[in-house]
Amino acid sequence: MILDCDPGHDDALAIALALARPELHVLGITTVAGNAGLENTTRNALRVLTLLGRTDVPVAAGAGRPLVRPIRVASHVHGVSGLDGADLPEAAVGPVAEGAVDLLARLVRESPDPVTLVPTGPLTNIALFARTHPELLPRIAEISIMGGAIGEGNLTASAEFNIWADPEAAAIVLDCGRPVALVPLEVTHAALFRNADIPRLEALGTQTGRVFADLLRFFAIFHRERYGWDGSPIHDAVAVARLVVPGLVTEVPYRVDVETESGLTRGRTVVDFHGLRGLPPNVVVGTAIDRGRFIDLLVEAIGRFA
Ligand code: BDR
Ligand code: CA
Repeated sequence: MILDCDPGHDDALAIALALARPELHVLGITTVAGNAGLENTTRNALRVLTLLGRTDVPVAAGAGRPLVRPIRVASHVHGVSGLDGADLPEAAVGPVAEGAVDLLARLVRESPDPVTLVPTGPLTNIALFARTHPELLPRIAEISIMGGAIGEGNLTASAEFNIWADPEAAAIVLDCGRPVALVPLEVTHAALFRNADIPRLEALGTQTGRVFADLLRFFAIFHRERYGWDGSPIHDAVAVARLVVPGLVTEVPYRVDVETESGLTRGRTVVDFHGLRGLPPNVVVGTAIDRGRFIDLLVEAIGRFA
C-alpha cells in the first residue's frame, strides 16, 4: 500500500497503524497540502517516521495546492504546524527527489502485486496520478479514502474537509474506474479515541506512546470546543484499519458524486441511496464501525514502537 496524507494528528496515527501491521506493506508515503502547507505536512510525515524508526520508507512531496481552488489549511484543528501539541524528533532524513506522482507511478509499476492507495488528505495527488498514468490504474487494487459525509460535514455544513479542499480531484478519483471505498464522517465520528483511554498510551512507557498521548490531548481541544466530545475521532486511521480487519467497518455500495458547481454545497458527497440517477454504484461507503476493536488496534499498534 501507499499512504497519501497531510499529517495531521489522525494521519500520524494512520501512518503508525499501517507500519505496525504485518498484513500491510507500506511501499511509500506521499504528502499533500491540506491540514497545513506542503512543507509542513512533508516535514511532519518525516518526523513521524523518525519517531517510529522507519526512515527507510520513502516520502515524496506532492501537490502544494488543490487542482483548481486556492489552498485552505486546517490550523483550527491541527495547529499551525499541522501537528501541534507534542515534542516530535526533528526529521532525520529528507523527502526523496521524485515528486509524489512520480513515486506513486514507480512504486505501482515496480510492485509485483496490485497496490492499494490510502489517501487521507485532499485527493490532488491521486487525481493527478490517475490522469497522468491511466495505464497504471489496472494495477491499483483499491483506493481506501478517508473523506466525505453522508449527512453533516465538518468544514461546512455540507462537506467534509478532504473533499471540500479539492472537490475536482475527488470527483476524478471517485470515478476513476477502480474499486473505491469511502470512510465518511458518519464512521469516523464513531471512531472516537476517548480522553479516558489516553493513559493506555502513556502506560506503554515508550517515547512513541508519550508523543501520541500528547498529540491526542491537543487534538481533543478542537473536538471538545466544537462538539462537546470527551475524545477525538481518529478519521484517517479508519481507512487503514478497514484493510487490517475486514468487516470492522460496515460498508454498502452506492453511487456517490461530488458537488463541484455550488458554493453552498461545494464538496458535498451526494450518496444516491435509492439509485435515483439510474447509475451503478461506484463506491462502497462506510456506515458504522466497531469502535472498541478499532481503539484496541491503535493502542496495540503504538505499543509496537519504542
Ligand atoms: C479529515 O480532515 C483532516 O483534518 C483530517 O486529517 C482528516 O483527514 C477529517 O475531515
Ligand atoms: Ca488527513
